[in-house]
Amino acid sequence: MTAPFRGAGMERLQALADVVYDPWIEQVPLRILDGEKLAAKVRELGADILVVESDLVTGPVLECDLRVIGSCRGDPNNVDVAAATAAGIPVLNAPGRNADGVAEMTLALLFAVNRFVVPADADVRAGQVFAGGKIPYQRYRAWQLAGRTAGIVGLGAVGRATKWRLEGIGMRVLAYDPYNPDATHRSLDDMLPECDVVSMHAVVTPETTGMMGAPQFERMPQGAIYLNSARAALHDLDALTAALASGHLGGAGLDHFQGEQLPVDHPLCGMRNVVLTPHIGGATYDTEANHSKMIADDIARLLGGERPLHCVNAEVLDR
Ligand SMILES: NC(=O)c1ccc[n+]([C@@H]2O[C@H](COP(=O)([O-])OP(=O)(O)OC[C@H]3O[C@@H](n4cnc5c(N)ncnc54)[C@H](O)[C@@H]3O)[C@@H](O)[C@H]2O)c1
Repeated sequence: MTAPFRGAGMERLQALADVVYDPWIEQVPLRILDGEKLAAKVRELGADILVVESDLVTGPVLECDLRVIGSCRGDPNNVDVAAATAAGIPVLNAPGRNADGVAEMTLALLFAVNRFVVPADADVRAGQVFAGGKIPYQRYRAWQLAGRTAGIVGLGAVGRATKWRLEGIGMRVLAYDPYNPDATHRSLDDMLPECDVVSMHAVVTPETTGMMGAPQFERMPQGAIYLNSARAALHDLDALTAALASGHLGGAGLDHFQGEQLPVDHPLCGMRNVVLTPHIGGATYDTEANHSKMIADDIARLLGGERPLHCVNAEVLDR
């Protein structure tokens, strides 16, 4: 087991198997095993169950004598699923494991952007509570969120977890998702002009890549807030930067950047109405507890002759 694992899931797995626990997340410097190194480890231990989160289950790993692979992610993109399927090895996953964590982060970004939390904090730390002849109460007024409208783009696990939280703070919540019948809108263009806040929660596909560009930011009302705690690929960063620089958008909160980095001289870094976090939406201990429970329960089902609930290549179960 090279995934972080904890709680009831860990206890369940320890009752079923001899667990060798060596999680990647405790390693400094960062250690991500490639297929060769992971296969060597599997062979050295004689493991027949492999549970991973970030290590690469590719090439020689699929030639090991594994009964099951647990990938502690919603999208098991660290596993060569086609090769696992060819080898007849079921691949378990953990959809929605981090939905609550990402939704809480989305709300954190929204509050921070809307109420200038980051620059206000910096003023206190810099001893600049009185600045430019104004007291903070003069500089930092905002419209409250209660009573305003939010539009969710992508009503999946994170989108739904964000929806009830926004409703809980008194917002009217719309949603655009062509694949979810519960969404209020079938057209993104129709929804955007109604939104004081737009929050991105779609999966990245050819259809959603760059779905927020200059025309879409233009359709958002003057002063609206844009949030993206999903993936940077969903928007055109230059168009977003221009919409903020012109004053058309009121602010933005972003938890992801292409290549996981934003150059420190990027114009967004100089904007006080923008909050930037480095892909930490899902970084909660609960995410680990959730995937541990899902993967351990499904391993128990599989070993007990039942069908697992979350298997991305369920066709191998019928062979
Ligand atoms: N910041 C983080 O740490 C973090 C953590 C987990 C997930 N994410 C990201 O959050 C997003 C949502 O994850 P999830 O677990 O809710 O995934 P999910 O698969 O449960 O939901 C994705 C939703 O996108 C919808 N969708 C597909 N095509 C669409 C389109 N053209 N327009 C609008 N919606 C469309 C799907 O119907 C689905 O409801 C993903 O982009 C994921 O990568 C970020």
